[in-house]
Amino acid sequence: MSIELKNITHIYEPGTPFEAAALNNVSLEIREGEKIGLMGRTGCGKSTLIQIMAGLIKPLNGNVIIDGIDIDEEGYDRTGLRQKLGIVFQYPEVQLFETTAYKDVAFGLKYSDLTPEEKDENIRWAFEITGFDPDKVGSKSPLELSGGEKRRLAIAGVLAVRPKYLILDEPIAGLDPVAREKFLKLLRDLNEEGMTIIMISHNADAIAGFADRTIVMSNGRIEIEGDTKTVFMDRPKADEAGISVSTAGRIAGMLRDRGIDVSEDVMSESELLKELCVHFNNDNRSEDQT
Ligand SMILES: Nc1ncnc2c1ncn2[C@@H]1O[C@H](COP(=O)(O)OP(=O)(O)OP(=O)(O)O)[C@@H](O)[C@H]1O
Ligand SMILES: [Mg+2]
Repeated sequence: MSIELKNITHIYEPGTPFEAAALNNVSLEIREGEKIGLMGRTGCGKSTLIQIMAGLIKPLNGNVIIDGIDIDEEGYDRTGLRQKLGIVFQYPEVQLFETTAYKDVAFGLKYSDLTPEEKDENIRWAFEITGFDPDKVGSKSPLELSGGEKRRLAIAGVLAVRPKYLILDEPIAGLDPVAREKFLKLLRDLNEEGMTIIMISHNADAIAGFADRTIVMSNGRIEIEGDTKTVFMDRPKADEAGISVSTAGRIAGMLRDRGIDVSEDVMSESELLKELCVHFNNDNRSEDQT
């Protein structure tokens, strides 16, 4: 089971003075269970790519095949696709339009064949895992929530459907560091339970700590693709595509420059911590022995 893009090309408003080429012959496969990071300079085509993946934009050319079926085939079950593939937009706050938070989170389940009790269970679960008490927040107007809360509510609405594939466009932009780590942990937990996750981010630390595989786009094409470590370690290519070094990677480099033995492939905070613990414990041990 997978999401497959085959030779996708897309131009916005072709043949007009506003014509903008967004994607140029992109092919890609995302397999069930993966955690994918999608990066690249602003305007390189990331949001366009995921909207095509979700069937929200029809590409000028190419095919989107989800779990073996082309979504443009006649009679394709679009309602089923909405249940299978959840997308959180770049500015998810704009997805909120119901009169209460509960109704907003419930919206995606409108056409689901779950019983009302099962729907309520899903909705309450979605509120809770995104850090809300449904009894307190459910009856509020979404307009009463802060920017960060609105974002979490929009994410709850997508999660309530329990999609098999979850696509998030810059979900952590603007979150404080604690909220960001909490959110990334939630994504890792959902992935452990079987959800395939594709996350767009400009944040090298978040991608280094989250993604198994990273795709870097440039000018409407896939420029680099591979396991996250390899992508970040290939500095000339990464620099060219505008991918910065993660903070942990940078600190590891500085420590190496000062003669501290930290492995070259440290990219994420947790890897750096592990290395430092080993290093300083070893130091302590050798001091103990003397
Ligand atoms: N609705 C639209 N109409 C016309 N052109 C568009 C539209 N949306 C995007 N574009 C153009 O298509 C190209 C790709 O845009 P896209 O939004 O996919 O980039 P992105 O990688 O998501 O950028 P960012 O990191 O800034 O979100 C850009 O040149 C952009 O100006
Ligand atoms: Mg975008």
